[in-house]
Amino acid sequence: MPPTVTETPTAAPMSDDKKWKMIDARIRRRGNSPDALIEVLHAVQEAFGYLEPDVLEYVGNALGVPLSRVYGVATFYSLFMLKPQGAHTVVVCTGTACYINHASALLGRIHERLGIKPGETTEDRNVSLLNARCLGACSLAPAVVIDGSVHGRCTPETVDLLLEELRA
Ligand code: FES
Repeated sequence: MPPTVTETPTAAPMSDDKKWKMIDARIRRRGNSPDALIEVLHAVQEAFGYLEPDVLEYVGNALGVPLSRVYGVATFYSLFMLKPQGAHTVVVCTGTACYINHASALLGRIHERLGIKPGETTEDRNVSLLNARCLGACSLAPAVVIDGSVHGRCTPETVDLLLEELRA
């Protein structure tokens, strides 16, 4: 849980949690500047894995940024997660090169196998699925990145194999 939002957002949070101390130190180092919003959100996500509503409110107050703008930034950049993520992250590229090479069939197979769509996580929190505009690996289209490793020229059958590995 984030520290309680107070009237004086520059004050250290009540919690002595080390992660929050680190984040508050980052906020102070940047002089509670609204310009530090992306950097601070990134630090929070790195510490906690995702950005929950209380956290967004706390960061907005600490930096003097309206909550609407904090949400705007958090939802605009695909690197920010608003929900807890699974143990594994699968990113299916749906950029032009991957799209014309049947990336939607890969998403379809993942939905068939795991019951999740982009932006969702399996109930057991094992896998989170995301999509991306272009992963910079167009010559390997359609491309999938699993836990940071790029897999090129994927087919629904290779997706089956890759998902099996995630269950092991
Ligand atoms: S469009 Fe998929 S990697 Fe570029």
